[in-house]
Amino acid sequence: MNKHNLFTLALIFFGWHIAAQNNPPALIPLPAQLEYCGGHFSFSESTRVLLRPASQELMPAATYWLSHCFRRAGMELYIIENDPGQDVIELVLDKKLPNPEAYRLQVDANKIVITASAPAGAFYAFQTLRQLLPADFESSIHSGNVFKSQVPCVRIDDAPRFPYRGMHLDVGRHFFPVEFIKKYIDVLALHKFNRFHWHLTEDQGWRIEIKQYPKLQEVAAWRKETLIGHYSDQPHRFDGQRYGGFYTQDEIREVVRYAAERHITIVPEIELPGHSLAALSAYPELACTPGPFEAATKWGVFEDVYCPKEETFTFLENVLTEVMGLFPGEYIHIGGDECPKDRWKTCPSCQALIQKEGLKDEHGLQSYFIRRIERFLNSKGRQIIGWDEILEGGLAPNATVMSWRGIEGGIAAARQGHKVIMTPTSHCYLDYYQTNNTNEPLAIGGFLPLEKVYSYDPVPEELTPQEARYILGAQGNVWTEYMRTSEQVEYMAFPRALAIAELTWTPKSKKNFEDFSTRLARHFPRLDNLGLQYSKALFCIRAQVQTGPALALSTLHPEGVIRYTTDGSHPAAQSQLYNNPVVLNQSTQFLAAVFVQQNAVSPLFSLRFEPHLATGIVPDLSSLPHSSYNLGGPQALTNGISGSDSRYNDAEWLGWSGKDMEAVFDLGSVKSLSEFSTRFFHSPGEWIHAPQSVEIWASADGKKYRQAGKAESLKAGGKLLPISISLKKNTKARYVKVLVKRHGIIGQGLPGEGHEAWLFVDELRLR
Ligand code: ACM
Ligand code: ZN
Repeated sequence: MNKHNLFTLALIFFGWHIAAQNNPPALIPLPAQLEYCGGHFSFSESTRVLLRPASQELMPAATYWLSHCFRRAGMELYIIENDPGQDVIELVLDKKLPNPEAYRLQVDANKIVITASAPAGAFYAFQTLRQLLPADFESSIHSGNVFKSQVPCVRIDDAPRFPYRGMHLDVGRHFFPVEFIKKYIDVLALHKFNRFHWHLTEDQGWRIEIKQYPKLQEVAAWRKETLIGHYSDQPHRFDGQRYGGFYTQDEIREVVRYAAERHITIVPEIELPGHSLAALSAYPELACTPGPFEAATKWGVFEDVYCPKEETFTFLENVLTEVMGLFPGEYIHIGGDECPKDRWKTCPSCQALIQKEGLKDEHGLQSYFIRRIERFLNSKGRQIIGWDEILEGGLAPNATVMSWRGIEGGIAAARQGHKVIMTPTSHCYLDYYQTNNTNEPLAIGGFLPLEKVYSYDPVPEELTPQEARYILGAQGNVWTEYMRTSEQVEYMAFPRALAIAELTWTPKSKKNFEDFSTRLARHFPRLDNLGLQYSKALFCIRAQVQTGPALALSTLHPEGVIRYTTDGSHPAAQSQLYNNPVVLNQSTQFLAAVFVQQNAVSPLFSLRFEPHLATGIVPDLSSLPHSSYNLGGPQALTNGISGSDSRYNDAEWLGWSGKDMEAVFDLGSVKSLSEFSTRFFHSPGEWIHAPQSVEIWASADGKKYRQAGKAESLKAGGKLLPISISLKKNTKARYVKVLVKRHGIIGQGLPGEGHEAWLFVDELRLR
């Protein structure tokens, strides 16, 4: 080879290397160690899978891939035992790899070598290889010949950070068919999850066939009707449609087998002692009072729960015996959350049991309940998982805790030497809203954008390294009160679940949200080919009103640009390109979208800026909003932008609990004032009440104030209470004080009775 050729070759190699680095395949979760080497391996009709006799233990991973993935893609690959030297994927069993889920994947131009100490590792190596293949590979209808597929040469050395990488699905509130459960499991496996927490029983429906108790199928699997709209919409309305369903034991066995083939262990959950109303509708003798009961038709927490009497334990042990026969995994989840003690307090049988067992109170009784169930399951070689309420009254000796109400339960359990799975609502509840767009489909509430999920670290900082060893991993939860269809589950769960995949697999030091979102955008075509209806929230325009004020817009789309209009017209490919924050100085309607070439690829972004006398003047607040509802900070009260009409948890609404609001403005110089206006949120179902009164006080020096206006006896007609106060004639002031007197304690018969009501305040407008 002469110098010239060598130079060309080096250029080609270098060029490819750069290309591979600039546009590497979208691996999610990111492997622990990854190095692109340049060049590629090409699949062909003669590509074979080499499995020498010594590596036969890895056969299940090989056969799974050949039959389920390559064949579906139209690639018939054969297993051989003798090395042809090239054009081969070799599986090598190497017991020196310490973790059965670990693997090495080496792609060279003429050979791919997968090394693992167990089928799980080989399975994950294939998942990585799959993600190195073009997205087309996932599609059952191929336009071209997939045998031309290429994968870049890489060296990957990979192992998970945590042994428990879970996703949950509530099939009690809404029921989803077996075909969907399999699709869900497929997508989880593609991203190296290894646990599926199947929430099978609820107040609203019992979803698993239990042969010994046929009324669980005939009665408990069905509810009369279902709540329409949000729980906080008052009064409650119902659809009048009988709703239900359950999985037969044959179906369950099929799903368990399907999941096992994909290295996913199912953790079945049978809720006790609470969330058991559906079971009580079939077997009222298991309750404290005679009933009758019916499966719940709305959401929430219900007072009728299992009574801890012998008959109940017999029932639960029989149920759990059938459950253990269906699910071979070590863990059975027994619920334990949200169990009101009302019935137990007045039940003679419960009170007698508290006496007899020398228990402290009803929390002791809950602990007794869980310990007894644990003893039974332990005696059959199984372990329990319970929600963090099982800490109350004392943990059962061997229980694993799922920390959901925050991380405190997880911290306490780890300090007591109990295993922990982290699923705090703040970062892992995928039923929360994922954007602040007002057109998001109805959800339970909250706000959990993708980047917040991604930012989560399952190991609480409070733990010592010794204690941290009890953290098994984390899980995303998908509660389905507001998800009626499989498509909606997909929309809520994905892509946020992929953030959970990465934070449970990838080393903490390698986590980087910008890199993740770039990979994710490139990963979407693969999910498209799998027919997944994931959320495109990644591409949404995010807005921040900076002091000035100026409007800063951004998108996580790696290639898209933002275009906007201010004349009310729909943004188009020719619209103004957004480069820098737009200074706001007059009433403006902003409409914007993310564009890739001619096409808008994001939901429409809309924002109205309405300036007033106090715009941009940050008020002094005598008490800060609650930290959960202070997203926009005090400047949100005067940035010229109103909050959403339908949701109070965006950056424009601020929320207080147990405090009045007192805001003082310094207008800089004495000004003539004629009107004050604002809006309050009013949603008694969510403990949010409009205030009692609003007073406006004016001052020239910030010391002596005169009252300039007042509004009293405020009554909201719907979820919003707009108010406008005409100020006294000739009101002139440099300093303006706005006093909002909160509603106070919530009255009898209302949700949150006896608690302080929340106060939510929108833009404070002065004219
Ligand atoms: C739960 O969300 N009630 C565990
Ligand atoms: Zn009782």
